[in-house]
Amino acid sequence: MKQRKAKGLLFLACLCAVLIVPFTLAQAQDDEGRGLTIGFSQVGSESDWRTAFTEITLVEAERRGINLLFLNAENSQEAQIEAIRSVIAQQGDAIILAPVIETGWTQILQEVQAVGIPTVIIDRNVTADESLYLTRVSSDFVFEGRLAAAWLAQATSGDCNIVELEGTVGSSAARDRQIGFNEVIALFPKMRIMVSQTGDFRRTMGKEVMESILHTEDPSQICAVWSHNDDMAIGAIEAIKEAGLDPSEDILIISVDAIPDIFKAMLDGDANATVELSPYMAGPAFDAIVAHLNGESVPKWIPVTGGIYFPDTAAEEYAKRAR
Ligand code: AHR
Repeated sequence: MKQRKAKGLLFLACLCAVLIVPFTLAQAQDDEGRGLTIGFSQVGSESDWRTAFTEITLVEAERRGINLLFLNAENSQEAQIEAIRSVIAQQGDAIILAPVIETGWTQILQEVQAVGIPTVIIDRNVTADESLYLTRVSSDFVFEGRLAAAWLAQATSGDCNIVELEGTVGSSAARDRQIGFNEVIALFPKMRIMVSQTGDFRRTMGKEVMESILHTEDPSQICAVWSHNDDMAIGAIEAIKEAGLDPSEDILIISVDAIPDIFKAMLDGDANATVELSPYMAGPAFDAIVAHLNGESVPKWIPVTGGIYFPDTAAEEYAKRAR
């Protein structure tokens, strides 16, 4: 009797597996993630690039029918950790984490993994072991720094005193851009960083920091501003103009992101070059989650690429990107 009951239960379990599991998988595969609940812990809204990245992600989730739990951490790692715990409590299907800084993620990623929720790291990197997350969708920040330095070396024949405006301290975007840039200028004995200060990726801070540098340093000795993002460069441009100097002529301006405002600055004759950071990362992240839930394997790094832009195409790029 007991044996017959056990057999009956086994049959029922098999029937469920046959009917329910393929239905769930097929559903995820067919509709690009329709019906999934995904938590998205975003850094904040410190720059125009970040705002564009958020908007694009929200639109892409909506288009796919994904229920996106969007959480803006306003640059606080504690808020990000709290947000992730709330997605666990709501039994989300996946988490996308854009980490404000690199360190301090191991424990929370272990908590997420323990309940079987996949995490995708997006944009900035973490130092936690890569076995703790599904994949990382991002650009190569070291390459961006190298590209910026290569352009500057060529534009100045390898002779330049540089002011560096750093991004958020502890973020992989700031650290890796700095590594890549410094690697290249080390090849040129007359290229050097004369002063380096953080502007936290913010336009207002870029301006404040540049104002103070123009007071503490001899402006005639500054050959270029290398800014880890366009927003800080735009702030620096304002400070340079207010000091009676000509940005892009007296002081070269090179930065990263390729936001509409930097193309506007190029059109006004105020900026020289920008390295692009694509804000279109949500699509590949959602695709990776769906593939994983469908039992497919996913590479550990999904790169997002970008080019370098100059004033000659600024009008075209501005028209394409401005919203
Ligand atoms: O992590 C990417 C950087 O973060 C962008 O370059 C910057 O604008 C943003 O705030």
